[in-house]
Amino acid sequence: MKDIVSLCKRRGFIFAASEIYGGINGFWDYGPLGVELKNNLRDRWWKDMVITPPIGPDGSPVEIVGVDSAIIQNPKAWVASGHVGGFSDPMMDDRETKLRYRADHIKYFVLETVDGSYFTVEGKKVRAFAFMQDTPPEEIERRLKKFKVDKKYISSDGKLPELVFSSGDGIPLEEIIGPDASKPGTLTEPKAFNLMFQTYVGAMQSEDSIAYLRPETAQGIFLNYKNVLDSSRVRVPFGIAQIGKAFRNEVNPRNFIFRSREFEQMELEWFCHPSEAKIWRDFWFAERQRFWKSVGLSSANLQIRDHDSDELSHYAKAGLGTADIEYRFPFTAPGFGELEGIAHRCDFDLTQHQEHSGAKLEYMDPNDNTNRFIPHVIEPAAGLSRGVLALICEAYTVDEKRPSGLYLNFHPSMAPKKAAILPLTAKDEHVPLAQKLYLDIREDFAVDLDIKQNIGKRYARQDEIGTPYCFTIDNDTVNDQTVTVRERNTMAQERIHMDKVKSFLHEKIRRSSV
Ligand code: GAP
Repeated sequence: MKDIVSLCKRRGFIFAASEIYGGINGFWDYGPLGVELKNNLRDRWWKDMVITPPIGPDGSPVEIVGVDSAIIQNPKAWVASGHVGGFSDPMMDDRETKLRYRADHIKYFVLETVDGSYFTVEGKKVRAFAFMQDTPPEEIERRLKKFKVDKKYISSDGKLPELVFSSGDGIPLEEIIGPDASKPGTLTEPKAFNLMFQTYVGAMQSEDSIAYLRPETAQGIFLNYKNVLDSSRVRVPFGIAQIGKAFRNEVNPRNFIFRSREFEQMELEWFCHPSEAKIWRDFWFAERQRFWKSVGLSSANLQIRDHDSDELSHYAKAGLGTADIEYRFPFTAPGFGELEGIAHRCDFDLTQHQEHSGAKLEYMDPNDNTNRFIPHVIEPAAGLSRGVLALICEAYTVDEKRPSGLYLNFHPSMAPKKAAILPLTAKDEHVPLAQKLYLDIREDFAVDLDIKQNIGKRYARQDEIGTPYCFTIDNDTVNDQTVTVRERNTMAQERIHMDKVKSFLHEKIRRSSV
């Protein structure tokens, strides 16, 4: 992961926000290539959802329209949605270090006592060490050694057995050493911490002017459900899609852009008759997995996982539950981390907004006025920022044979640059031909014209940014208008006529998108 983060900075994909001021935890900026990659993923999602939505179970395309709602809405909307009351994480503070942890992200290494005696630190009994759930085993071992936890408290063979990690239930806090503490008993009881960022609207800063930055794009869709029905020709079942920023004051932003405080979501709210919820849930499970594979994530790194009952959100409890599409990120491997949640939200949100706003949000069957109901919602909710991270992790390929030592194996349709035009030398004859080709190709594709440095260094740079094709202009080009094409993954080279470059790219990129 360290190598991936450093490549992202070195090549202009992702930077720490406000880096020259030391950064700000949980916020990231996208550089010239990062924004192209993000736009490619965003545009593909929008195309697959709104422009050419998938073919439904009945053989005809499903109906989906888009919206782009405000980030700040009437605060009553967030009361109705349950976010003011319940969008919180359990949080523990450490009185000694002043650090704050998400209680559900802590695991406890419970000391076994073989002979009934207790381990002690500063004369106080210790029954468990707390660790953040993703602490690497070497770090756990290092910390236990530092405290001189000897063999008899670990296991008879002196190894760190996985099984002795527990939820910590039943162990008094005074007998636990916090993840960064030097003695037991400094962690506080978990307290609910609301994740919404607050601000004030208007010149007066009072209770009445409090507003919230949206923690999900979904609610902007529910708030516009009636507007969309009244102003367009959609009929249940149909979907409303939205892509945009969401903000959560995460207790522990971590793992690069995986969990940040400002991020982007791509959410679909699919409105259907309650009796058809299961059909549509199954449909979207399959469709969303197909999507992630089509942008280059391998089946081996994807899995679907049903939420356990204690993980379910308030809106998903009554229905068919939630399942996550998970990706094997380097920091979760061999395990997986959430990329997208697919929830059956029942009629929770529309019912809540109907009750709180007084607006009628029932759907009336156009063929039968007596058939009125509040639609159920199936929600595929994907992270755009997390998707970008998954694409980068999937693409990162070490290859010691090449000068860069690595290349980014992006699916060509996702690659920030589809091609690079490289004059072999900065000589007079090569550069004008390269410029001519560049001007022609850039009409259809994001393409780089790179003139300076030796050709090896330029290939290395294009490998590191994942450009699938490089076209080199040399002396033969001057004579017969042919160029060398170098393919990123195989480094194989062939010559084609300059006039064929555009159709070559169309063919290759179209074929790889099927
Ligand atoms: N409307 C439902 C909803 O927001 P969620 O599971 O909380 O559900 C959906 O979020 C997706 O948004 C997640 O699967 C994840 O990809 C992304 N996401 C959520 N919190 C995030 C964070 N703090 N940083 C980056 N991405 C996040």
